[in-house]
Amino acid sequence: MWYTEQRDEKGGRIMDERFSTKAQDLQEQLLSLFREGSEEEARAFMDHFNLLMTYYRCAMMEIETKFRVLEEEFSLQHDRNPISGIHTRLKSPQSIREKLIRRGFPVTLDSVEENLTDIAGVRVICAFREDVYYLERALLAQDDVTLIQRKDYIRSPKENGYRSLHLIISTPIFLSEGKRMMKVEVQFRTIAMDSWASLEHQLRYKKGKEISDGVAGELRACAELSDDLDQRMDRLRQILLDSEE
Ligand code: GTP
Ligand code: MG
Repeated sequence: MWYTEQRDEKGGRIMDERFSTKAQDLQEQLLSLFREGSEEEARAFMDHFNLLMTYYRCAMMEIETKFRVLEEEFSLQHDRNPISGIHTRLKSPQSIREKLIRRGFPVTLDSVEENLTDIAGVRVICAFREDVYYLERALLAQDDVTLIQRKDYIRSPKENGYRSLHLIISTPIFLSEGKRMMKVEVQFRTIAMDSWASLEHQLRYKKGKEISDGVAGELRACAELSDDLDQRMDRLRQILLDSEE
């Protein structure tokens, strides 16, 4: 493990810590866990892996807290809650390995950090579509949040009907030895988009095979219906707002 001393604009120490270990390949390292007499190697690898996952978990907590703060402020000002739920998830070691192999990246811990952007995931479920964009603006306006990638599947839904706003952001976590930048995937959806996505996910994974054309068409129709619902709800919200003025 090594560090590179870097300073940010305020002179704070930035920690650049790589997970280079003697045996580089994750698979090799995982296999070595079961080799006789390799306890030390196995322990060192697991320590590195667990440390990296802890960093991602901390970054997820930082982002969740940012949304909780925005929620508090918004609720106080507007007397309603823009967030109906926040879910966080850390990608499993198995999914991490599968994704690296699928995308042709080296299966090492350094490669995880360099090539994968969805190890830490935060999903924010909103009441209205307007809330999605409000929360996006409020998050990106914070000076310790850097946007890396933005995919707006609400304005441009996916072929199957999937809608959500996806951001890949980078944010610091502050450790005893300095700060460390971590990537987090943030997904924003309305309640209607979320129910559609979980239904589609269940259909896709429960069956373990391709979705038939009939089912895919039905899903797309449901996505249209749920989009219509969101638009009508947004109009009702506007009427409510107008009546308050
Ligand atoms: P992944 O390899 O799945 O991470 O895709 P990607 O790197 O092309 O990113 P994308 O932004 O398209 O999707 C990232 C995540 O959004 C997925 O892991 C899912 O959680 C969610 N997602 C994307 N497309 C769909 C979809 O069609 N249905 C559902 N239910 N979820 C989706
Ligand atoms: Mg993903």
